[in-house]
Amino acid sequence: MINFSTDQPIAINLNQVEVALSEIRNDPMSGWLELPDDYNCAEFSAIKKAAEQIRGDSKFLVCIGIGGSYLGHRAIIEALGQKSSTRVLYAGNSLSPRSLDKLFNEIGDADFSVNIISKSGTTTEPAIAFRFFKEKLLKKYGREGTAKRIYATTDANKGALHGEAIQEGYTRFVVPDNIGGRYSVLTAVGLLPLTVAGINVDALLTGAKSEKDDYAKESNLGNIPAVQYATMRATLLQQKYDTEILATFEPDLQYIEEWWKQLFGESEGKNHQGIFPASVIYTTDLHSLGQYLQEGRRNIFETVLTVEHPGLVDFAVPTLPGADVDGLKYLEDRMLGDINNIAREATITAHRTGGIPVSEITMPGLSESSLGALIYFFEYSCALSAKLSGVNPFDQPGVEAYKNNMFHLLGKPGF
Ligand code: PA5
Repeated sequence: MINFSTDQPIAINLNQVEVALSEIRNDPMSGWLELPDDYNCAEFSAIKKAAEQIRGDSKFLVCIGIGGSYLGHRAIIEALGQKSSTRVLYAGNSLSPRSLDKLFNEIGDADFSVNIISKSGTTTEPAIAFRFFKEKLLKKYGREGTAKRIYATTDANKGALHGEAIQEGYTRFVVPDNIGGRYSVLTAVGLLPLTVAGINVDALLTGAKSEKDDYAKESNLGNIPAVQYATMRATLLQQKYDTEILATFEPDLQYIEEWWKQLFGESEGKNHQGIFPASVIYTTDLHSLGQYLQEGRRNIFETVLTVEHPGLVDFAVPTLPGADVDGLKYLEDRMLGDINNIAREATITAHRTGGIPVSEITMPGLSESSLGALIYFFEYSCALSAKLSGVNPFDQPGVEAYKNNMFHLLGKPGF
């Protein structure tokens, strides 16, 4: 199970938590809650088959999507590394011509396929990127070949992408009706790119399931780490700590932090309320934001995401002959991982002394099963935390504002 510990007194109101959890269970968008048990097996084997096809005929899989349609699988791939000769690339998550140009250059003349991922099927950024990649596919493979190389992950019944996929005969995968984008990483949204990248998705789902099963076995809700984390956040918000920094000492978890920011930011930032989610990578950011954290405004609390056993690789600080020219003789033979752990301990103590409430989320390792458990932990705590602060965890009405302005400025009919 994912472990949570904190220096904060948390007063858990079990009745309130029970009511919030029951509202989440009854919400039509709570499909992610049962997903590790309920996964559509037929679709799962179709995903594996498609991944095999892509790995056989493509050097690159271009995953086109934005927000919840790309951050989850990118987070897992960045954390574990790509383990396949077919590399997953990401497009449609910005409107930058430079980014698109870089992708085109990287692909060059190599064989590639496209996974267009959009639940609504109408999001502008991925839709525009899809056009560019369709054009490239059409030039290289013709209409029939193009259709065979496009995999569309979208709503089962509606949206422009759904209609196009049927008309053109693309292989289709479904984002279930009862799961929103940012909770969708364990559906086809994440599973197809992950399988192509060589990630063991069975182990990922098993990790999520064991986290879910551990919660179900617990008779006292207050002992569930995800409940403790959600309650701690609500308690700190009441004390005017309105910014949470997710910190990690593992740079490979940078995209887990990006996914976490989207999950919590889009779920909680409503009605002019919500904790602002920010992130840092240590020790890098101790030399950039470290000063602010230690002595700046005291509205911040910090959650350190720790990997207990980050990997099999470690290095001893080399012993060099001669005088102690760099002043590091005292570290000779110390393991780098050990020094990283000591930096973590030192930082936590310094920040607590400086007046920052610091908590720790510990995952056992950097593996598929640990990441599956972590995903479930965060989705569960996020939905609960949003409910406890009185907002709907599953909508994102505010995202429309920039879109409407952009459509108006671009002259889209009707805007
Ligand atoms: O979490 C969400 O619902 C959003 O971040 C969406 O994933 C994002 O806006 C992309 O939407 P769509 O998949 O419909 O293109």
